[in-house]
Amino acid sequence: MALFISFEGGEGSGKTTQVERLTQTLTATGIPTIQLHEPGSTNLGRHIRRLIKGNPLGRNSQGKKETISPTAELFLFAAARAELVSKVLQHQAQRDRLVILADRYADSTTAYQGYGRRLPLRLVEATNRLATGNVTPDLTFLIDVPPSEGLKRVGAGQAPLFDFNEDEQGRMDDESSRRFEEESMAFHERVQRGYHELVRAEPGRWVVVDGLMSSDAVFDAVWETVQSLDKFRALDAAPVMSLEKASAV
Ligand code: TYD
Repeated sequence: MALFISFEGGEGSGKTTQVERLTQTLTATGIPTIQLHEPGSTNLGRHIRRLIKGNPLGRNSQGKKETISPTAELFLFAAARAELVSKVLQHQAQRDRLVILADRYADSTTAYQGYGRRLPLRLVEATNRLATGNVTPDLTFLIDVPPSEGLKRVGAGQAPLFDFNEDEQGRMDDESSRRFEEESMAFHERVQRGYHELVRAEPGRWVVVDGLMSSDAVFDAVWETVQSLDKFRALDAAPVMSLEKASAV
């Protein structure tokens, strides 16, 4: 069975950089590695990413931006994941000499839609089970950064995948802008608390890395942990002829 590792964290945690560094290191070591980014990595996933990102609903009759409802959002992320599992993961996870790295997986849905959007956790978890079948990561890194720091790093220039404001009224004046920031911060604090709850519930699967450390120090911690895994050691590290990096299917 392949070694499956997922990376989780709030906005601006730097996890994507770490996934990319780990892919490069593993590949250079001669270990076939597949890198996945959610939502995406399948044709349906890319359509869903565009759907969520593109504000396809436009404005409602009062001229307010219409947002996707939390339950619909849950199903969109779950649909992208179900497709990823059935088209990619179920098959690839059977391979013996492979590392699968996922930049977000089902824990993102629990943290964002469950804790962030406050959908009932029991139902979010049931949705995750339906979408993932029994394909779960062997190891999950939480690159942990306080939301205030993460959001600062992401900065105003980079548009998030979706609006975190549950009650978007337009952000034309200072008051609305301040309210948006406050709601946004409360949302991200719930997401971080959600991750901490997940770690507490399943400490054997999670490794928490302090994302405030330098990128090099974070990577050292990640790489050391990966190398210490029995399942990683069992991978035949002999050089291979064709290296694989499939961020797309
Ligand atoms: P993305 O632009 O891919 O950024 P990131 O580097 O943070 O992954 O945006 C993904 C966004 O989607 C991010 O804000 C988290 C959110 N998300 C969910 O709310 N639920 C999910 O199940 C997933 C996979 C992502």
